[in-house]
Amino acid sequence: MPYIELDVRQPIWDQVYMVAPLVLVGTMEADGSHDLAPKHLAMPMSWQSWFGFVCTPRHATWRNAVRTGVFTVSFPSPEAILPIVMAAGPRVEGGEKPTLAAVEVEPAQKVDGVLVKGCGIALECELHRTIDDLGENSLIIGKVVAARVDAELLRGPDTDDNDLVHRHPLLAFLYPDRFATIDATNRLPYHTGFER
Ligand SMILES: Cc1cc2nc3c(=O)[nH]c(=O)nc-3n(C[C@H](O)[C@H](O)[C@H](O)COP(=O)(O)O)c2cc1C
Repeated sequence: MPYIELDVRQPIWDQVYMVAPLVLVGTMEADGSHDLAPKHLAMPMSWQSWFGFVCTPRHATWRNAVRTGVFTVSFPSPEAILPIVMAAGPRVEGGEKPTLAAVEVEPAQKVDGVLVKGCGIALECELHRTIDDLGENSLIIGKVVAARVDAELLRGPDTDDNDLVHRHPLLAFLYPDRFATIDATNRLPYHTGFER
């Protein structure tokens, strides 16, 4: 296989496709209104209840999360691609993001914030720490203080995992410009004796 050496001084992530999650991070602005922004550099931080995402002080999301000490995470289904596009709409003169009006929200329960209506999984987080020296970016890590899931999405002893994903497909993001619907999966054949 002929490999091509990539220049690691340049971003490499838009030269190939990789699979990433896609969530909507919710924060509160200083004037009491809410903000939402899509994040794909976002995932659980460990097996315990921490969640992190990469952001930049250029974004209101970063400034709001650091100022208020809280944020929310909504996990949209593949049909909910429109709220994701709207949450990344441009800001107009005066700083508002008018496209946010198209995204229906409901109040968070444990932190001051909102969650996107219709998302199957919702997290409410308190800021744990930021790691600020990733170029212009930071990793924002929150402690999950509340988590809710649509009852239909919950795994359990009586559910067939393959059927569950088929009935309620998952959204995957392929940075920078594609998304996919995951509705068919295979069970990983763990090696006998495997332990986490
Ligand atoms: C599909 C998608 C994924 C994105 N992922 C990230 C991300 O992981 N980190 C980030 O800092 N910005 C990401 N962005 C960009 C910001 O979230 C976006 O510019 C947002 O509008 C910033 O809003 P804010 O100023 O209200 O925080 C993404 C944008 C899109 C459309």
